Amino acid sequence: MDLKSYLVEKRETIDNALKAYFEDSEKGPSRDLFRAMKYSLFAGGKRLRPILCIAGAEAVGGDGGKVLPVACALELIHTYSLIHDDLPLMDDDDLRRGVPTNHKVFGEALALLAGDGLLTEAFRIMSSDGIVQHMAPATALQVINIIATAAGCAGMVAGQVADIQSEGKEADLELVEFIHRHKTGALISASVKCGAMIGGGDMEALSAIALYGDNIGLAFQISDDLLDLEGDPGVMGKEPGSDQKKGKVTYPGVLGADEARCIQEKLVRDAVTALDVFDYRADPLREIAWYIIKRKK
Ligand code: IPE
Ligand code: IPE
Ligand code: MG
Ligand code: MG
Ligand code: MG
Repeated sequence: MDLKSYLVEKRETIDNALKAYFEDSEKGPSRDLFRAMKYSLFAGGKRLRPILCIAGAEAVGGDGGKVLPVACALELIHTYSLIHDDLPLMDDDDLRRGVPTNHKVFGEALALLAGDGLLTEAFRIMSSDGIVQHMAPATALQVINIIATAAGCAGMVAGQVADIQSEGKEADLELVEFIHRHKTGALISASVKCGAMIGGGDMEALSAIALYGDNIGLAFQISDDLLDLEGDPGVMGKEPGSDQKKGKVTYPGVLGADEARCIQEKLVRDAVTALDVFDYRADPLREIAWYIIKRKK
């Protein structure tokens, strides 16, 4: 399969669905809020989490179109996490998705609230009436629970706290693995798992997908660390060197870049092996796993 055209096609589907949620949003008294939300949302992210959600549904033989509201919600949550992550009181970064960070354009208060708006809107979308056209109410409830767990204090928020609290400290493999699995891995894993769940995957399929998701989620953050060390800002759309500047705990920092790459490759191999229970319909997931190692942005 041609991963490049798969990613382009899915990105377009997701972008169209996202745009539909924000039509006419700049007309009312909250136009500045929506302008700030849309600024980061449409600045050009890879849309990896929503794509994984669609690919997860397709891998189990489901309809990728049915996951679109959840896929959009995942991108809203991810974008909120980026806006907050870049704030001066967190990583203090000036460039994101190839443009100045949200707070640089809208100020810190509006950036904070744009993040809050995106997060809350995600849960509004997933709990709205229309969702039952796409899945059984019990499935919707389960999906919302999985995503809340992954995004919240058992997942991403816990990881971000550990990341901040570990700045400038000595770290071992156990700590860096905790940070990365929580701040980044959890939402990525939930994305593919929820896709497979909405797609109608059985228990065996869901546990294979969960193993795949956990592995690529960690591998993805190892790439992020490596790109921060050696990536091209023009390609990445964010400034490298941010981790060193803040004394962050990273895989290359704890193990060295070569050992980090070895671990990453094993994670991806194990992720792809977990997909052996699926047929060709899991090929996009297989290709995405290898793309995570090769990516330049
Ligand atoms: C960046 O995520 C932040 C991490 C969790 C590592 P992405 O690399 O997916 O960023 P976008 O969505 O493409 O901008
Ligand atoms: C970000 O990790 C994780 C979340 C946003 C939850 P990083 O701080 O390493 O991400 P970048 O490098 O700023 O994109
Ligand atoms: Mg950070
Ligand atoms: Mg950051
Ligand atoms: Mg980073």
